[in-house]
Amino acid sequence: AVPADISTEPPVIFDKDRAGIESIKYDGAQLWRIAYSEQEYKNAVAELQKQFQVSMWNLQMTNITQPYVDMFVKSAMVDDARSFLENVRVPFDVVINDIQEAINNENPPLDDTDLWQNRNGHPMTWTSYHRLTDIFGYLDYLTKTFPDLCSQQEIGKSIQGRPLKVLRVSNGNPTNKAIWIDGGIHAREWISPAVVTFIIDSFAENWNEQSQDIQNIDWYFLPVMNVDGYEYSHTNDRLWRKNRRRNSVCTGVDLNRNYGYKWGGQGASRQPCAETFAGSSAFSEPETKAVRDFLVKSAANFKASLSFHSYGQYILYPWGYDRKVPPDHADLDAVGKEAAEAMKKVSGFHYTVGPAGSSLYPASGGSDDWAKGTMKFKYSYTVELRDTGRHGFMLPADQIISSGQETMAFMRVIAKAVSKA
Ligand code: ARG
Ligand code: ZN
Repeated sequence: AVPADISTEPPVIFDKDRAGIESIKYDGAQLWRIAYSEQEYKNAVAELQKQFQVSMWNLQMTNITQPYVDMFVKSAMVDDARSFLENVRVPFDVVINDIQEAINNENPPLDDTDLWQNRNGHPMTWTSYHRLTDIFGYLDYLTKTFPDLCSQQEIGKSIQGRPLKVLRVSNGNPTNKAIWIDGGIHAREWISPAVVTFIIDSFAENWNEQSQDIQNIDWYFLPVMNVDGYEYSHTNDRLWRKNRRRNSVCTGVDLNRNYGYKWGGQGASRQPCAETFAGSSAFSEPETKAVRDFLVKSAANFKASLSFHSYGQYILYPWGYDRKVPPDHADLDAVGKEAAEAMKKVSGFHYTVGPAGSSLYPASGGSDDWAKGTMKFKYSYTVELRDTGRHGFMLPADQIISSGQETMAFMRVIAKAVSKA
């Protein structure tokens, strides 16, 4: 149901993931918000992870009067985990009563209006979450429609052979500085590619209305970095995070633990089955390697790197590998706070600004630390988009546009800082 001139052919690969595998259902699984102020509460959360296979989705320590963690509880563990918490008297609320229901409700099918009226000759909308072929079809539309502004380049292939496509948006001015943007490092964080393509759309369709700072920057977008994981999260497991590397026992490497600055330190796992598995070595994965090689070889004058994730509403800067900050942290903090204020003015949504390692938790091998530490890009941020846990990863698609609009305010502030850098 897309116009005939748009190619919607999927890349020619044999989908090993799909063959013979049923998609995973999460009926009865829950998201709990657990108090995280006292040491006993923290110990109890650690026990939940060990004994009941409960996993942490989000942590809110600052900006909120009551610190809490969001913990994902499998359906089979709900009763035992509940008794455990009641026994040790740790306060908690059930935020999502049925994860499968949230999954079923986040992405309603396109209605006829979306299908036939809101599209300008491309398959993309910002009222639902789209598969990779729609996103690629949209990039093709852009390069065809705005050839003087938009160009495309394949910087490599994923482990299953899908292309990694970078879109450059530039007025061609040779003195421009450059900004790198990636989305979808983590498969299940669907709002990230949606917002990155929203930014692209705002730029391309209304380029002359953008700020002078924006117009005088070369923008490089990789809307979906973890292409295999993203597709897998649509076809098989909505909550998949890592890439799709087949390890000995389990599948997947956490691409945001695989970058080469302080690789393998705190917050990164050596266990292939862990959600934060760092891989067999720094840049062991084709997806991170492609980004590294592209940025290292590029002649562009990069001053910033922006990595979009969800969720938690954070603007994070280095370092992430430890509770430390770089020498110019005051600059990163000031720009981050100005951006957060601008975002709040647009939508009323509050974003917390701070260094990644101390605001969240230390996690080494991240894209942000590598951009700052190895590449020396001055401004390096990880943005955790909406929300703060009500819907978590299953942010309803009707929040894509407002998330995109507040992120555009972020982009204007970053562009201004970069043009002065
Ligand atoms: N939620 C992100 C992750 O776990 C945060 C990354 C922040 N940056 C960092 N280098 N730790 O990947
Ligand atoms: Zn993420």
